[in-house]
Amino acid sequence: MKKLNGGFYPPQYTVFLSRKGEGCYVEDVKGRKYLDFASQICSNPLGYNHPAMIEVVKEYSFTAPVKVAGQDFFIEEHVRLLEELMKITPKSINSGFLINSGAEAVENALKICYKFTGRRLGVGFENAFHGRTLGALSFTKSKKLYYEGFPLLDSVTIEFSEQGAERLEKVLSENKAAFVIIEPVQGEGGYNIPTMKMMKTVRRVTKKYKVPLICDEIQSGMGRTGEWWAFQHFKIVPEVMTSAKALQVGAVLANKKMFPESGVISSTWGGGHRIDLAMAVAIIRTIKKEKLLKHNKRMGKVILGMLKELEEQELLINARGLGLMLAFDLPTKKARDEVVKENFKRGLLTLGCGEKSIRVIPPYIITELEAAEGIEIITQSLRKVLKQ
Ligand SMILES: Cc1ncc(COP(=O)(O)O)c(C=O)c1O
Repeated sequence: MKKLNGGFYPPQYTVFLSRKGEGCYVEDVKGRKYLDFASQICSNPLGYNHPAMIEVVKEYSFTAPVKVAGQDFFIEEHVRLLEELMKITPKSINSGFLINSGAEAVENALKICYKFTGRRLGVGFENAFHGRTLGALSFTKSKKLYYEGFPLLDSVTIEFSEQGAERLEKVLSENKAAFVIIEPVQGEGGYNIPTMKMMKTVRRVTKKYKVPLICDEIQSGMGRTGEWWAFQHFKIVPEVMTSAKALQVGAVLANKKMFPESGVISSTWGGGHRIDLAMAVAIIRTIKKEKLLKHNKRMGKVILGMLKELEEQELLINARGLGLMLAFDLPTKKARDEVVKENFKRGLLTLGCGEKSIRVIPPYIITELEAAEGIEIITQSLRKVLKQ
């Protein structure tokens, strides 16, 4: 794998997954079972081999090609997913463009805003992560490693804080911006949750200067935080939003009037992967049927309570979360990396984020017992690494 995969850089451990797994547990190729607190970086909301997902796989088992040129040759799965998405987005967002990945969704959100406004400057936030394609990369600030050495688009970067939001007013009054792009809860950059005041200010000033607001919901969206979209916690509505990961395909969603003329945005396979599209519909319907938004809110509180207890015991710092998008900090990056490694050794999959944080992002179907099992492993790892 190291030789064959040009992009090879696993987290603090290397795991080779088999196809076996059930619920929140997955097996590696050697038959070792892991409890999953990483959810394939938020892209596996229903866990492993959920009956609704198996149903889709069965339905398409004798279908070829699975991928069609979805922007030129239409298929019913494409329409069905757009219809489902429109049921869970604000009324003003009535149209969507489906694409292959998260970064491509961001890329196209930017293009839509450049064309719509005829402007060239984009505004983003410190610690943001929007993907690694060149446009998205221009607004990805979480690690220098990602963007240093590449030609980037014109941008202004402001602090992800209430002060930053205040400064945004000055930036927008002095510059003609094409968009402001924000993650309503920052993901890769450290699971940073903004205050209500910050998000309200961002929305107020973008409206005042008629600058489209793009909410990047690729990690925080599709129900993870207990609302379909994290921006709903802040009672705001953006002009443009992106989704991917838990949706299985990339999506840019906006009012139809914002989309450019035919041909400006497209991609051979965009909206053309039958299984992914059908899986996305099944995931949305299952989240509704199993009332997982409510469950995520409740389980988020339960797990946050457990993390806060560990914080009281001084085993971790800054426990935080919105629904099942949770994280905590260690004193150093080294300690964080060691805890992630220890978790793995003890049978728990976790991922880092930010400088010294660990994400707690289990599948939406997690039970209290499984939550307690995972937190117990984290406690043991923390005790070992911090020698307490
Ligand atoms: C908020 C956000 N935007 C964009 C992306 C890029 O998505 P992808 O990795 O599918 O290109 C990610 C991926 O982690 C993300 O978290």
